[in-house]
Amino acid sequence: MLPTEFLGIKLKNPLVLASGILGTSPEILIRMAESGAGAVTMKSIGPVEREGNINPNIVEFDCGLLNAMGLPGPGYKNMAGKMEELKNCPVPLFASIYGSTVQDFVDIVKFLREYRPAAIELDISCPNKDDGLSFSADPETTRQLVSEVRKHSGSIPVIPKLTPNTSSIPLLAEACRKGGADALNAINTASGMVINIEARKPVLKYKKGGVSGPALKPIAVRCVYESYEATGLPIIGTGGVTTGRDAIEMIMAGASLVGIGSALYYRGLDAFRLIAGEMEEWMKNNNIDSLQDITGAAHG
Ligand SMILES: Cc1cc2nc3c(=O)[nH]c(=O)nc-3n(C[C@H](O)[C@H](O)[C@H](O)COP(=O)(O)O)c2cc1C
Repeated sequence: MLPTEFLGIKLKNPLVLASGILGTSPEILIRMAESGAGAVTMKSIGPVEREGNINPNIVEFDCGLLNAMGLPGPGYKNMAGKMEELKNCPVPLFASIYGSTVQDFVDIVKFLREYRPAAIELDISCPNKDDGLSFSADPETTRQLVSEVRKHSGSIPVIPKLTPNTSSIPLLAEACRKGGADALNAINTASGMVINIEARKPVLKYKKGGVSGPALKPIAVRCVYESYEATGLPIIGTGGVTTGRDAIEMIMAGASLVGIGSALYYRGLDAFRLIAGEMEEWMKNNNIDSLQDITGAAHG
C-alpha cells in the first residue's frame, strides 16, 4: 500500500526522517532506517565546523517546539568517515547542506558527489543562524543558487528546502523550479519566540527560534499546497506531521513524501512504524489502494 517512487528512487513508504532531528551519526540514521523510515535525511552540513547557539536552545510550548540550535556540526571536510559508513544505509539517504556563499554550497556538493547520496537538500531556510535565510530572502538569489548548485550535482537530484518566513511561497517555489530544482521540501521551521513572563525574557538564549511540531502543520500544508500549484514539482511535505491522518493530509495537499521531525519527540523512536500503520489503516477504511490515488487530491 505504501511503497512509492520519488525522483526514480524506490521507497518502502513515503516517510522521511527530517534533517537535523537526529544529527549525522551513521548508527542512529541506520537505526531509523531499520525502524521504519522510508528514507533518512542527515542534519545539514556546512563549510566549516560550527558550535551552534548557546543553551537554552530548545523549549517545548503548548503545541510545538521552538529551537535555535544554530546548525552545530563538524564541517564537511570532517564528514568523510561518516559518509563512508552511511553507504551502508539500507534506505535512501538524503544529504542536506548549508552555506554562507554560493561557493560554499558548490564546494560541499563536489565533496558529496563521491558518496552518491540519493538527493541533496539545500537548507536555505534556517531561521536560527544570522544569515540562514539570506538565500531565500529574494527569489532571484534563490534561483541563482539553485542553478549554480545544479550545474555541479551531476545526476544527484537537488531539493531546495523552502522557508515559511517569506512573503510569497509561490514566487520562491517557482524560482527554485527555474533554477533547475528536481523537487522541493516544504517547509523548514517558522520563526517564533517564547517569553518567560516571570523572568520577563525570551526563554531561548538566541531569543527567537524555529517553531516545529503540531503548531506548524497548517502552515506547512498551505505551503505544500501552494508549491504544488505553482510548480508541479514533486514535494517532500514537512511540518507538524505526528499521525497517519496528518501524513494523508500532507499527501492530499500535494506531497509525494512526508517529512517526520518533531514527531520523534512526541511519539518516540517508533514514530515511523506507528505513523505508517495509521496511514495503512486509514487507506484500508477508505478503499484507497495506492498513495498515487490521493496525491494532490485536495486540488481542483
Ligand atoms: C532540533 C531541530 C533541528 C533542526 N535542524 C535542521 C537542519 O539542520 N536542517 C534543516 O534543513 N532543517 C532542520 N530542522 C527543521 C526540520 O527538518 C523540519 O523542517 C521542521 O522541524 C518541521 O518539521 P516537524 O514539525 O516535523 O519537526 C530542525 C528542526 C529541529 C526541531
